Amino acid sequence: MNIAEILPRTLFSGKTVFITGGGSGINLGIARNFASLGANVAICSRDLAKLERAAAELRELGHQVLPVSADVRDPAAVAAALARCEAELGPASVIISGAAGNFICEAEKLSPNGFKTVVDIDLLGSFNVARAGFEQLRQTRGSVIFISAGIAWLPYSHQIHAAAAKAGIDSMMKNLALEWGRYGIRANSIAPGYIGDTEGTSRVAGGPVMDAVMATTPLGRLGTTDDIGQAAVFLASPLASFVTGTVVVVDGGHYLEGSAMLNAAQRALSAQAT
Ligand code: COA
Repeated sequence: MNIAEILPRTLFSGKTVFITGGGSGINLGIARNFASLGANVAICSRDLAKLERAAAELRELGHQVLPVSADVRDPAAVAAALARCEAELGPASVIISGAAGNFICEAEKLSPNGFKTVVDIDLLGSFNVARAGFEQLRQTRGSVIFISAGIAWLPYSHQIHAAAAKAGIDSMMKNLALEWGRYGIRANSIAPGYIGDTEGTSRVAGGPVMDAVMATTPLGRLGTTDDIGQAAVFLASPLASFVTGTVVVVDGGHYLEGSAMLNAAQRALSAQAT
């Protein structure tokens, strides 16, 4: 299903959407959905070659696409990327903070720098993006959307670093909703479940863990990047003009089953490895 068969192709015409992590996976899926509905999109990550490939695909949807490289851990680089976005495409009406890092590691084996690296990318990076985008969002009375995850509220084995970061993101999101509502800026999160063909899922749900994912997903399938893109479109659109400070869970109902089965599978995998 193409989103433009349901919503007007002009829904975001003349609007600018800035997306970190937009070169691949969920965030590229989000970019595709906004571009299908008329938006000009800036995609931002560390890897310019990957961004250029994604931009070539997105341009086929007929609108302006700006690939711009920055490490979200570097506030000056993020500010420069957003300034370039504004200069070339106009001020952002929508900012998606999706850049993230994760890997599987038992807590007692994780180095402080490993923990810090993921918190720096996910949490501090999200703050850097929202902070640098504030003036543009104030101008457009726009919306910021963070990419969270179920690990923010349910413990999943071997992801203490990402869990802490995502919980921090949701907390920050609620604070921004509270503080920036008076400027007409809305802040929300999306918590994706397991999305097929993404680096994130392949990093955390290999082998028996994937069997546990399927067994604990009431809708009986992996998500698609369009599932997340469509949720982002909803949150950014006038349909959600009174929605702020919330986490939209898009996981096929997996969170209803909890994480116990996955944790058992993950522990068994680690026991085999040692
Ligand atoms: N297990 C344990 N520790 C790990 C690890 C792993 N699989 N991968 C990295 N680390 C540790 C490193 O050992 C290092 O700590 P140390 O200095 O104490 O040894 C620290 O994390 C930083 O690693 P480094 O590779 O220098 O960081 P980076 O900035 O180049 O990469 C990562 C960031 C680690 C998050 C990397 O996996 C990445 O770039 N990921 C982006 C893509 C991604 O994760 N996508 C999925 C999103 S859900």
